[in-house]
Amino acid sequence: MFVTVETAARTAPATVIVAIDGPSGTGKSSTSKAVAAKLGLSYLDTGAQYRAITWWMLSNGVDIHDAAAVATASEKPVIVSGTDPAAPTIAVDGADAAGPIRTQEVTGAVSAVSAVPEVRARLTELQRSTAAAAERGIVVEGRDIGTTVLPDADLKIFLTASPEARAARRSGELKGKEATDLASTRDALVKRDAADSGRKTSPLAKAGDAVEVDTTELTLEQVIECVVTLIEEKRTA
Ligand code: DC
Repeated sequence: MFVTVETAARTAPATVIVAIDGPSGTGKSSTSKAVAAKLGLSYLDTGAQYRAITWWMLSNGVDIHDAAAVATASEKPVIVSGTDPAAPTIAVDGADAAGPIRTQEVTGAVSAVSAVPEVRARLTELQRSTAAAAERGIVVEGRDIGTTVLPDADLKIFLTASPEARAARRSGELKGKEATDLASTRDALVKRDAADSGRKTSPLAKAGDAVEVDTTELTLEQVIECVVTLIEEKRTA
């Protein structure tokens, strides 16, 4: 069968840009990956990029509490994100960084590094160019995607959940990898959210035109279904 260029353009789904923001443990990553895979879209985990730059700072002896030193070094690491939702990757200076960026050392340092405006400017630029290059569209997850990185996104979702539900999910993810208990996971999450929400440059925030989805009582499948439905509604609007 021959499909003319005109027909193909009419039947191909329009590019769609989806921003998914929210604090840790709300199911952002699992939801974003699954939605992107279901709809044939690319996927970008911007938290992994902030973790990657933090890991590079720690590995290269940069004092993460010295904002000027972090700012000066922020141009140095080469960060590359693979955007296939079935197998997302993150590399720093050509080396796979997927494992090292999930350690408690990096988790404890990432809020300080991500508060530095030069770090944010650099990663925001990288994130915008990745979104622009995604031919069929992309699901981008983070903290400031709807407010700062992609303010013109077709759909903005803000995921929330109670601190208890978020801590329980995060403890489940960490089980077997690093010793953790529910109370300390909850305290660490709340502390990190406060730092991420309180920073001056593009804090964790819900965009005025974002749809808020409280995931406390929902299963992952229900959240995925809800987001897919919202995207389909946008596409047919
Ligand atoms: O999603 P995550 O927990 O892997 O993100 C790690 C940290 O990165 C988080 O504490 C805040 C920061 N971050 C950010 O400041 N802006 C983003 N768009 C994504 C993450």
